[in-house]
Amino acid sequence: MEYRTVGKSGLLVSNLCLGTMTFGKATSEEESISMIHRFLDYGGNFIDTADVYVEGASEEIVGKAIQDRRSEVVLATKVRMKVGPHPNDVGYSRKRIMEGVEQSLRRLKTDYIDLYQLHVWDHLTPIEETLRTLDDLIASGKVRYIGCSNFLAWQLMKSLSISEFRGYARFISIQPQYSLVSREMDREVLSLCLEENVGVLPWAPLGGGFLSGKYKSVAEPSFGRFSQGLTGEYEWKNKALDKNFNIVAKVEEIAQEIDKTPAQVSLNWLLCKEGITSPIFGARTLEQFEENMGSIGWHLSAEHIQALDEVSALPVEYPNRFIEKFRRSI
Ligand SMILES: NC(=O)c1ccc[n+]([C@@H]2O[C@H](COP(=O)([O-])OP(=O)(O)OC[C@H]3O[C@@H](n4cnc5c(N)ncnc54)[C@H](OP(=O)(O)O)[C@@H]3O)[C@@H](O)[C@H]2O)c1
Repeated sequence: MEYRTVGKSGLLVSNLCLGTMTFGKATSEEESISMIHRFLDYGGNFIDTADVYVEGASEEIVGKAIQDRRSEVVLATKVRMKVGPHPNDVGYSRKRIMEGVEQSLRRLKTDYIDLYQLHVWDHLTPIEETLRTLDDLIASGKVRYIGCSNFLAWQLMKSLSISEFRGYARFISIQPQYSLVSREMDREVLSLCLEENVGVLPWAPLGGGFLSGKYKSVAEPSFGRFSQGLTGEYEWKNKALDKNFNIVAKVEEIAQEIDKTPAQVSLNWLLCKEGITSPIFGARTLEQFEENMGSIGWHLSAEHIQALDEVSALPVEYPNRFIEKFRRSI
């Protein structure tokens, strides 16, 4: 396992992070705990959860699994989504965050969170209020570092600027959706992160399982993540596009050539990418977990990386096209 610092911090994390969104539902408690222990035994130290995953069950299972090994783990969780019926059970008000952190600490059976992340932008709360609250949580010792997730580039840059201007702790990381079948962050967020030294922790690095190659046609599948009638990012119609099937075909061709699986090739592409700190992969079963751990300890060749870059690239659009044209002119 390789270890990398997260953004502008000294925090060292394994180059794979274990996602726990299915723990307590699609993955039984027993299998989830075994998976966490296997991951730690591999040398993995980075685990991601959220207060809303399986209504808190994911945090509870993670807490139980790491109780005796707390200090070796970099524990990341999130706040923002609605967790109860009352008006202040959602968002980033000082009230909500202060309560949210206590609830997460209780479920996680610990007295500190290593990386506390804002799940998605909150249009209601002034970001100054939120950043001040997070800074207080760091001062209190309940939180070690802060990060964000699903932010637009301007939202991240505004937050970093306010933190710097006011002397608050700043985000060390962002958690965006990013994979061979979801490269929207190439437009602005990734270059901002390189410029500002913010760690990037891609979620759904296997496109929710699409990049494993197990879906063979556009017909709605009867198995796996995409058979559950989920909406948005895990909605079949948003994934089952000709472009995405072409990407999977290239992944499969390369996988066959180098005797790896499509999931391993897809994760390794991210491990090799400049600016990516640690992809947060999911595994519903121990078998999937073991396969996915086979993505570490080797590197795709430059030719294979280029082929994958090309097949998955976004169309070149304005203003990036315009800016690129003049990049080297004085
Ligand atoms: N910040 C955010 O807003 C946000 C949003 C989503 C997720 N996340 C984080 O990111 C983590 C990972 O997200 P994700 O689960 O979408 O990631 P992913 O790694 O893209 O997909 C994982 C899913 O793909 C399937 N799969 C995994 N390995 C496989 C293999 N080798 N062969 C075949 N199928 C395989 C499994 O689903 P099936 O077997 O059911 O098909 C598994 O649950 C989450 O646990 C969470 O921690 C964050």
